[in-house]
Amino acid sequence: MVRDRAGTMRLGALLALLLCSSLEGQENSFTINRVHMEGLPDWTVPNGQNLTLRCLVDISTTSHIQPRRRLLFFKDDVLFYNVSSTDSSESFFIPQARVYNSGTYKCTVILNNKEKTSPEYQVSVRGVPNPRVTLDKKEAIEGGFVTVNCSVPEEKAPIHFIVEKLDLDTKQIKQKKEKTSWNQNFVTLEFPIEELEQVLIFRCQVSIRIMSGTHPEVSESTRSDLVTVRESFSVPKFHISPTGMITEGDELYIKCTIQVTSLAQVFPEIIIQKDKTIVAYNRQGKEAVYSVMALVEHNGNYTCKVESRQISKVSSVMVNITELFAKPKLEYSSTRLDQGESLALSCFIPGAPPANFTIQKEDTVVSQNQNFTKIAAEWDSGTYTCTAGIGKVVKRSNAVQIAVCEMLSKPRISYDARSEVIKGQAIEVSCQSNGTSPIYYHLLKANKVLESCTKDSNEPAVFKDNPTKDVEYQCIVDNCHSHAEMYSEVLKVKVIAPVDEVKLSILLNEVVESGTDIVLRCSVNEGTGPITYKFYKENGDRPFFQVTANDTQAFWRKQQASKEQEGQYYCTASNRASFAMRGSQSNTLTVRVFLAPWKKGLIAVVVIGVIIAALIIGARCYFLRKAKAKQAPVEMSRPAAPLLNSNSETVSDPNIEANSHYGYKDDVANHAMKPVNENKEPLNLDVEYTEVEVSSVEPHRAPGTKGTETVYSEIRKADPDFMENRYSGQEDLLAARWEVQRLKMLLPGAPRPRVSHSCERHETQQTG
Ligand SMILES: *[C@@H]1O[C@H](CO)[C@@H](O)[C@H](O)[C@H]1NC(C)=O
Ligand SMILES: *[C@@H]1O[C@H](CO)[C@@H](O)[C@H](O)[C@H]1NC(C)=O
Ligand SMILES: *[C@@H]1O[C@H](CO)[C@@H](O)[C@H](O)[C@H]1NC(C)=O
Ligand SMILES: *[C@@H]1O[C@H](CO)[C@@H](O)[C@H](O)[C@H]1NC(C)=O
Ligand SMILES: *[C@@H]1O[C@H](CO)[C@@H](O)[C@H](O)[C@H]1NC(C)=O
Ligand SMILES: *[C@@H]1O[C@H](CO)[C@@H](O)[C@H](O)[C@H]1NC(C)=O
Ligand SMILES: *[C@@H]1O[C@H](CO)[C@@H](O)[C@H](O)[C@H]1NC(C)=O
Ligand SMILES: *[C@@H]1O[C@H](CO)[C@@H](O)[C@H](O)[C@H]1NC(C)=O
Ligand SMILES: *[C@@H]1O[C@H](CO)[C@@H](O)[C@H](O)[C@H]1NC(C)=O
Repeated sequence: MVRDRAGTMRLGALLALLLCSSLEGQENSFTINRVHMEGLPDWTVPNGQNLTLRCLVDISTTSHIQPRRRLLFFKDDVLFYNVSSTDSSESFFIPQARVYNSGTYKCTVILNNKEKTSPEYQVSVRGVPNPRVTLDKKEAIEGGFVTVNCSVPEEKAPIHFIVEKLDLDTKQIKQKKEKTSWNQNFVTLEFPIEELEQVLIFRCQVSIRIMSGTHPEVSESTRSDLVTVRESFSVPKFHISPTGMITEGDELYIKCTIQVTSLAQVFPEIIIQKDKTIVAYNRQGKEAVYSVMALVEHNGNYTCKVESRQISKVSSVMVNITELFAKPKLEYSSTRLDQGESLALSCFIPGAPPANFTIQKEDTVVSQNQNFTKIAAEWDSGTYTCTAGIGKVVKRSNAVQIAVCEMLSKPRISYDARSEVIKGQAIEVSCQSNGTSPIYYHLLKANKVLESCTKDSNEPAVFKDNPTKDVEYQCIVDNCHSHAEMYSEVLKVKVIAPVDEVKLSILLNEVVESGTDIVLRCSVNEGTGPITYKFYKENGDRPFFQVTANDTQAFWRKQQASKEQEGQYYCTASNRASFAMRGSQSNTLTVRVFLAPWKKGLIAVVVIGVIIAALIIGARCYFLRKAKAKQAPVEMSRPAAPLLNSNSETVSDPNIEANSHYGYKDDVANHAMKPVNENKEPLNLDVEYTEVEVSSVEPHRAPGTKGTETVYSEIRKADPDFMENRYSGQEDLLAARWEVQRLKMLLPGAPRPRVSHSCERHETQQTG
């Protein structure tokens, strides 16, 4: 500040001079030859030495006096000193150079409008002054803190500090802290005081880096004053009684004590630990006590820990207790017994000293004696131990696991389905036996093990299966009992296969000759009997034939097939496994019936016969008319009909028909009509045949009678009535016969119809 103010004053004076000299310089020529610097005593100086930086200027001029010039001093390119003079050199003085003075220096000379700068010079200040270490206290307590102030007043930040805590006796570094201060030339650090520390010193060292990349300047380390540490409480101490040899049964007394300084605000906690287990503790006093009747188990390493907030002190002691007697042993006859076998347990001590024994099952005393024997029952299973006591010392033996096995009962096997099993249906076979669990179940299917399972209770074992045919199951059970495995009864399961692939076929040929047999076969590929087969025709709702059989096929036979049997057939098959009402349905089969050649011939004959009859009638009508014309008065009253009484060929006489029983006449008429309706070809001979056949089926006819014969027989029957009712006189009869004879004469070629023979046969049949 002082220098700055003086500088400004001087600058003001110089300004005035400069104005004059510049006027002067305008007339004279001058040049700056050289500008350079000198470091005095050297460019590298030890820390604290005076350093002078000199800037030297060499100027040539025509003037007799040196012109006034300005000199500018730079450190690291920053102007720090500005002076005007007429001297050939100017200096900048640094008293007691410090590390922060290190850097790159140069100077610049300005003369009118001419300017020249010196080269750059490196100033290095070597070494750092020793730091100062001060402490906030000379005496500390365990768990407390010491504040350390380390400073380098001569230097400027940034400074790196390393502070260490050392044990005075061992010179061992207990703790080390480092910190860089960026804006102060000191640091204050807190160090905790730990247990068992007694006298401490602190050490500080600093380092300053001039420029990054260069090695830092490092100071020597400075030691602080001594710090004495006072303990807050003492290391714990064990007191064990009885002293000397401790025998089992003695009262063992383990005490841990400490001393606490008056400085401590709170009592630390005292803990006695055996291995990981805390056996005693105290939070309030100066001691903790563990008291117990000595046993061998109490042997071991006891630790006493005393803990306050930060401090923990530990000591340990080995406790050695002499054994009074060895641990008893529980011996057993066997750990796995069958029910009814003898269970024998015995407790003994090696060396067999006199002692009191008990034997326990879980928590129940089963014997006050050394020995325990009984007949084993299942509920005797369990864990047994024994105790042996001599005086106050009681010891427990090892545990023995006894399992008593109840023999398994004969297993019971069953399955869930109510009656029969349908193929493909899953069933559950259960097997159950009573006895000690776990029970091992094996299911045999056709003598092979199908599945196994284990049950931990008397619950039945359930096996799932899907039998496809009749099968036998059996189950085997076993458990821990020594008895051999037990077999159940054999369980027979009947499996019903549903009918499959129903097929209708015809034996021989699908085209049947009328009069031969039709045999239809309804068959199934598979199916369990009894199977009900039903035969259907066309779209009939009801079967025309039904049969139940154990076979996979059934037949329907029709003797002497007729056109009637022609049509479409199918069948169904069902058994107990069929759910549909009708069972499975077969394919549809078409049956065709054709007329036998001889029948066609027969029909042809009949037709021709009818034609001949028609011709005869026609002829008779003609002659009658002629005769009427001749002898009208004689023959007028005579009816034409009587001609018929002796000859059946005159069946188709319309007069006779008109007077015959209506029933028959209707029959014939109806049948005559049918072919026209049923068949589009009325002239077909087959059709005529069919018509006849139908009449044979009518219930009032004798079975197996041929249609043609039947018709004639009916007509034959009609004859006597006719005669009785209409032709009473002998005269008439004779006249009629004559008439017929005459007609026969007229038609000599007319065949003698076979029908008369048939009729006879039929008649004999009827009468006989
Ligand atoms: C350094 O300079 C001071 C004045 O600034 C002077 O008193 C001192 O004697 C000098 N030291 C040396 C070693 O020259
Ligand atoms: C040096 O000082 C003079 C007078 O005090 C001033 O005019 C000039 O600007 C300064 N030079 C620099 C570079 O600061
Ligand atoms: C540390 O010491 C230095 C000088 O020795 C002092 O200037 C500074 O204030 C001190 N710091 C503290 C926190 O006492
Ligand atoms: C007892 O335990 C402590 C702590 O676990 C251990 O330091 C010490 O060595 C042990 N003593 C013996 C005799 O094993
Ligand atoms: C305890 O004492 C017995 C004899 O008294 C000795 O044999 C044994 O080694 C001791 N055990 C320990 C752990 O010190
Ligand atoms: C117990 O049984 C052992 C033999 O097993 C026998 O020597 C002993 O005398 C029995 N003790 C008692 C108290 O019955
Ligand atoms: C066994 O028990 C009885 C009664 O409790 C006691 O008097 C006796 O001393 C015990 N025997 C031994 C060897 O401890
Ligand atoms: C198993 O015992 C139960 C109840 O005690 C009884 O109902 C069942 O029939 C027994 N089973 C056999 C396979 O004996
Ligand atoms: C089918 O066979 C069983 C026994 O095999 C028999 O009881 C039953 O009567 C038979 N059924 C028919 C329709 O033959």
